[in-house]
Amino acid sequence: MNSSANHTPPSLEQLVKEYEAIYRDNPLRWDEPYKDKYAFEVVRLYLKGTNRGIPNTMLDIGCGSGHTMEYFSSQWPMTNMHGIDLSSTAIEITQKRVPKACCIASSLDKTTVPEKVEFITAMGVLEHCTETIQAFSKIRDLLSLTGIAYIEVPNCIAYPESEKVEGFRKLTTGSQQWEWHLFRKSWEERIRSSGFSINLSLKGPKPEMGFIWVLTQREQRIPFLSYLRIRGYERGKLARMALHHSVYRLYKMTGISDCFHINH
Ligand SMILES: C[S@@+](CC[C@H](N)C(=O)[O-])C[C@H]1O[C@@H](n2cnc3c(N)ncnc32)[C@H](O)[C@@H]1O
Repeated sequence: MNSSANHTPPSLEQLVKEYEAIYRDNPLRWDEPYKDKYAFEVVRLYLKGTNRGIPNTMLDIGCGSGHTMEYFSSQWPMTNMHGIDLSSTAIEITQKRVPKACCIASSLDKTTVPEKVEFITAMGVLEHCTETIQAFSKIRDLLSLTGIAYIEVPNCIAYPESEKVEGFRKLTTGSQQWEWHLFRKSWEERIRSSGFSINLSLKGPKPEMGFIWVLTQREQRIPFLSYLRIRGYERGKLARMALHHSVYRLYKMTGISDCFHINH
């Protein structure tokens, strides 16, 4: 068996040290532009297909050297960018690449935002979190009610050197990080248990990006009037409108349709 299954996973402090050393030795580690182009295209088509506009805010969790934020900000110059990573070296690199971004060295579980974010990416990060359901739930906390999350994790269990048994372990080959080796079904059970809806479930072009999901908050399927309130319709005006019109008419009058066709 090509893994360290019997060893104890590293503490957060050890992980931080490991990632600091990685980015000091190789500041552009995991800098693979095709991943960003792929992610951007999936998200662009998803936004188009659901009649959504470009998000006002983006948060890249585990942003590493900042290549994803750099690419997305070149495509969406008006979007406010935020990035977090365990490694302060990675954060310095990202800040140089995307000067307008607000970047903080922080672990996901300690991250807070002044305002919920409209678009979140986490690429090659969630497989490193020992408590996956907690990590997905934390992402939900940071995401606005109508926001979307793009999550990519490697299909570690498909690596030829990985035993076809699920577990949290590190291989003695490759990047040698501790990561979850799970089948898609188990990942998706964990995602759903955290309260997310899976809107797209894709197989990436290589095992390193084997599982890709576009997620939204399950509560997006909320009553239409609550949805209108979120979209800025004032409560009193809504009550008056509701007295005079059926919900169907309100729907026609406002032209808002996306709460009906997402998450089916
Ligand atoms: C495999 S790298 C991927 C980096 C980047 N997303 C990319 O695609 O190049 C994993 C990154 O996640 C960060 N990371 C791991 N666990 C984290 C956590 N709990 N909170 C924040 N960042 C984390 C690491 O510091 C590292 O930069």
